[in-house]
Amino acid sequence: MQQFYSAAKNQSRPPLVLASTFRSKTGNDEGSTRRVHHHRASTTSSPMLSSLNALEVSHSLSSSSRSFREASSEAKSASNNDSTQQHHVYEPSISAQSLQQMISSRRTVSNFLHHPPTSLPVEGGIQCQQILSNAIRRAVECASTAPNHKMSEPTTFHRILSPSAASERLLDISYEVTYQRLLLNKLSGVEACRNEAMRKREKWSKIPAFIVATVGGMEDQYNEEEEQSPYAELPLNAPHTIQQLEDYASSCASIQNLLLSLHSEGIASKWATGTIIRTHALRNLIGCKKDDMVVGLIMVGWTKQVPRMPRRRRVLEGDVLKDVNI
Ligand SMILES: Cc1cc2nc3c(=O)[nH]c(=O)nc-3n(C[C@H](O)[C@H](O)[C@H](O)COP(=O)(O)O)c2cc1C
Repeated sequence: MQQFYSAAKNQSRPPLVLASTFRSKTGNDEGSTRRVHHHRASTTSSPMLSSLNALEVSHSLSSSSRSFREASSEAKSASNNDSTQQHHVYEPSISAQSLQQMISSRRTVSNFLHHPPTSLPVEGGIQCQQILSNAIRRAVECASTAPNHKMSEPTTFHRILSPSAASERLLDISYEVTYQRLLLNKLSGVEACRNEAMRKREKWSKIPAFIVATVGGMEDQYNEEEEQSPYAELPLNAPHTIQQLEDYASSCASIQNLLLSLHSEGIASKWATGTIIRTHALRNLIGCKKDDMVVGLIMVGWTKQVPRMPRRRRVLEGDVLKDVNI
């Protein structure tokens, strides 16, 4: 995660430098020196499977990196000396490429494990829970650096580690919400609805941690006068004012920071916005205020198989990226 911090802190600064060793935070947040893995940009490799050997980059702008001006002038004189090379093409530094590769290789994961897939110097669930708990704390620290207009710092992250009383309650809520939604939609009989809801509960029991992201200062999310089952979907009450929209946008940006930080440590995630996030039962579990909106339920853990990049409908040049020419 260090490289995200470093890059974020120095966005307009010179290219970062990959050091051969770095001070890392282990699962217990104890500093130790480890070797850096020089990840090359590739479409197949993913840091997710390397878990605790996560790519980390350290840099020291003051000591180990040259200034951007120095680097450019050296490149220019090298280019001038080489008569065959007419233009110096600026290429991003290796650490910039690593960061870009890290961002691009994050995938939404649906099949979770309670422990890393590779053999690691950790035993039992407790250490894994501790590792996740620490990684989530670092991810939330990263999330909280997302841009937020008027310094509103609107997002709160509620951490639920599994197994725990809170996670058991979350699984029960998931079961009830799924069961009632299926029944309401009359998609199948009572027994089939129960089985389907139980299947989902079992799938969720394999997820070692959940984070519920909420944003405050929104419209009231429910009307006290209206009787509502704790497991039924509340009517949507979307952001209305500019400040609410900006806070919601900031919240989404911080969730992405959170996902990327986890990914940089080899931890998989899924940002979900299913019915459950709009129920009294979930709101009560995490102690929401009336004007708190749940922006997402984020599933966190390890995975054996990182999904492929989904097929993109749109091309980059001229479609996603358009030059404005007047
Ligand atoms: C706001 C938001 C809500 C999402 N909600 C769900 C969801 O409820 N269930 C789900 O399986 N995926 C959900 N996703 C994940 C998307 O399906 C996923 O990002 C998309 O398929 C692209 O895959 P990728 O993240 O691997 O690039 C959500 C993503 C976003 C940004």
